[in-house]
Amino acid sequence: MPEAVLAQVARDMLDWNGCGMGVMEMSHRGKEFTSIIQKAESDLRELLAVPQHFHILFMQGGALGENAIIPMNLCGPLGHDTATPTVDVVVTGGWSQKSAQEAKRYAHVNVAARTQAPDHTRIPDAAGWQLSANPRYVHICSNETVFGVEFQNLPDLQALGCQAPLVVDASSHIASRAIDWSKVGLVFAGAQKNLGPAGVTLVCVRDDLLDQALAICPSAFHYKTVAANESMFNTPPTFGIYVAGLVFQWIKDQGGVAAMEAQAIRKSQLLYAAIDASALYVNPVAADCRSRMNVPFFLKGDDGLPLLDATHPRNAAFLAGARDRGLLNLKGHKSAGGMRASIYNAMPLAGVEALVTYLQEFERTLV
Ligand SMILES: Cc1ncc(COP(=O)(O)O)c(C=O)c1O
Repeated sequence: MPEAVLAQVARDMLDWNGCGMGVMEMSHRGKEFTSIIQKAESDLRELLAVPQHFHILFMQGGALGENAIIPMNLCGPLGHDTATPTVDVVVTGGWSQKSAQEAKRYAHVNVAARTQAPDHTRIPDAAGWQLSANPRYVHICSNETVFGVEFQNLPDLQALGCQAPLVVDASSHIASRAIDWSKVGLVFAGAQKNLGPAGVTLVCVRDDLLDQALAICPSAFHYKTVAANESMFNTPPTFGIYVAGLVFQWIKDQGGVAAMEAQAIRKSQLLYAAIDASALYVNPVAADCRSRMNVPFFLKGDDGLPLLDATHPRNAAFLAGARDRGLLNLKGHKSAGGMRASIYNAMPLAGVEALVTYLQEFERTLV
């Protein structure tokens, strides 16, 4: 979270804008909260250049919830054959693997391409994807948070001869780069990386996809219903939307998504350069698939091989030294091991510089 946003939240806690209430005390239908959600939506539309033929929905259930909500919304009978719907998924890491798994409850899932752990280190060339004949949608995770693998460009399904909408899990890099909406049917993201606190899920969905739900889709998760009620079919996560709105304003104040992207390039290049220049650290991801947001790396052992064992004393010493310097949360995800620096939008350049200095200092202690 940007520090300036947290400070603003603290100031507003008991009394938002002089109205005598904190945001948690407001009615979601009152004029105060209505102004908050409307501004959040219009700022986000401006920041991400979301076209008018997309709805912006603030939902709940997280990105994993969307793994069920999406097939329930897009696999319905509208104008389609009555056979079991097919969904195509490209698996490039743990999150898209989970999406494929969940979609199986609602559809036949065709894995159009996959990388396999521990080799989630690249994105299979779209020209080789085995897309099915008539999928209801094609799912990708555009930034695999755990393995640090990022699509640098969204695939052009039409150019691949596929008319299905592209569904993108952009949870961990939303608002760090522009989105080419001409290639996309639906983008979703849990808010908790680049947009605000956990509890809000952003869904940007093309209008023609609003009304293709399966009959079993719960009303509170039915995109058409949520859109018709301007994200207030049920009580929305008001506090989270308010904080996200402050983050959107903060991004605007920094110069918008283009400024976030420039900063992300600068920060990630600095960190990858330090890793690549060292004899101790290694990042295994193909150079053109490296994430600007999540930078996993391994320390090497005396034999020059990556230390996969999280309990190895060298890993423990690295993390302890980092903690002493206020460099927190560097332990890699349990499914990947090693270390991971998540350098989201709110991480200042100085934070990455401090990490690079520490990487070099720690390496020197070993010679
Ligand atoms: C890319 C991606 N997808 C899905 C998820 C799961 O999100 P949630 O915990 O909001 O369900 C995460 C969480 O880290 C993620 O990074």
